Amino acid sequence: MTVIDGKALSAKIKEEVRVEVEELKNKEGITPGLAVVLVGDDAASATYVNSKHKACENAGIYSVVHTKPSSTTQEELLELIDEMNNDSKLDGILVQLPLPKHIDTTTVLEAINPFKDVDGFHPYNVGRMVSNLDSFIPATPFGVMRMFEENNIELSGKNCVVIGSSDIVGKPMASLLTNAKATVTVCNSRTKDLSAHTKAADIVIIAVGVPHLLKGDMLKDGAVVIDVGINRLDTGKLTGDADFEDCKEKCSFITPVPGGVGPMTIGMLLKNTLKAAKLRDK
Ligand code: GUN
Repeated sequence: MTVIDGKALSAKIKEEVRVEVEELKNKEGITPGLAVVLVGDDAASATYVNSKHKACENAGIYSVVHTKPSSTTQEELLELIDEMNNDSKLDGILVQLPLPKHIDTTTVLEAINPFKDVDGFHPYNVGRMVSNLDSFIPATPFGVMRMFEENNIELSGKNCVVIGSSDIVGKPMASLLTNAKATVTVCNSRTKDLSAHTKAADIVIIAVGVPHLLKGDMLKDGAVVIDVGINRLDTGKLTGDADFEDCKEKCSFITPVPGGVGPMTIGMLLKNTLKAAKLRDK
């Protein structure tokens, strides 16, 4: 059984980006730039935004953070996006989700220039990804795909069960696996018999936000478990959607929480920002 070390892999990816950013500066005089917008005072979002900013600085990426109060109107946010779309120092624009309820997320995401959409949430990029065309791939599922690659985990012909059908993780994950010729089942909270699906799975990817939902007796021997959940227990401890101790005996590979998928996300965001910078003026 292998515990996949997302922290170490993320460090490797960040270093790859740092080296390429330096090259891009030296050869083409281009410094990649990323703007992150945080609206409101969600504590977890503020932590993520801060980590993204620090990771950019360490990689040599120019980084701007716009922190806006929760009273910000949709019009004000759209104006800011328009400015950033037209700012030649910025290759990537990321609006941290969730947004306050009075702002329509779709309208905001559709306002971002698709060529600066390093989150891959604009319908232009979503459509291209589903069609297996070059696009920005959402960072979390992109990070999971890199984990498979690094560990030589074959996807073609495998039964993959994705638990959770969010726009940020479940749906793009299912698309990427489908494009990799896996047989994909997407489960959600209405799924009748979750165990029946997971027991038939070679690979289970869970992203639902329910601590310890996935147990060892729901898995077949040798399954791969990718745990995207990050839940804070009343004790303050972070834990995943899979019961790690219970599942690990059954698994060939499993990701821990913390230190699994989480750290990968920022690494892949940096990759997407670098990709956007390389496409600048092209
Ligand atoms: N909120 C949780 N994950 C993400 C993400 O990957 N991007 C953005 N913009 N918001 C998020």
